[in-house]
Amino acid sequence: MAGVNVLVIYYSRTGTTEKMAKAVAKGAKSVKEAKVTIKRVEEATMDDLKEADAIIIGSPTYYGQMAAEVKKFVDESVKIHGALEGKVGGAFTSCGAMGGGCETTILSILKAMLIHGMIIQGNPQDHHYGVVSIGAPDENVLGACKELGKRVAELAWRLKKNHSSLSPF
Ligand SMILES: Cc1cc2nc3c(=O)[nH]c(=O)nc-3n(C[C@H](O)[C@H](O)[C@H](O)COP(=O)(O)O)c2cc1C
Repeated sequence: MAGVNVLVIYYSRTGTTEKMAKAVAKGAKSVKEAKVTIKRVEEATMDDLKEADAIIIGSPTYYGQMAAEVKKFVDESVKIHGALEGKVGGAFTSCGAMGGGCETTILSILKAMLIHGMIIQGNPQDHHYGVVSIGAPDENVLGACKELGKRVAELAWRLKKNHSSLSPF
């Protein structure tokens, strides 16, 4: 059977979140069944969302939540409400300061995914909600980004594989 489509979407003004996005995509690509697409949010479309089995969204933290560019895209997705149910989601953010609202930013993205009926896997080790970078991502954070991409791709693949082997009756 065909593999899984993993879509990484991000917004970045000064390049920090972009570095994280590239590492997330790299991690997803390490899963051999995954076909990975990485796009800036300004270039992403509703069809991209519909075609994906897994969607990972990254945004800088702006006032404790996702940047307006990402929120605009999320709000546009009301046009396809219902079509994302059962897809796997994940989120990451970069912010300027410790306690600057990174986790609330992650949750702002995950909440929208849950409202779409998507499936979110937490991480019991670290970066529980999604990956956070305070300032430029160091090697640890880039490793966590790769791990996020890999875990999301693996879960999407497991769900797709099991679903296709279920009897329709
Ligand atoms: C409009 C604006 C709002 C911001 N708000 C926050 C904030 O609430 N908390 C924080 O820690 N950093 C805040 N920052 C800093 C950015 O989150 C941080 O510089 C981020 O890494 C930039 O990501 P980028 O390089 O991908 O554009 C803000 C920056 C801007 C431009």
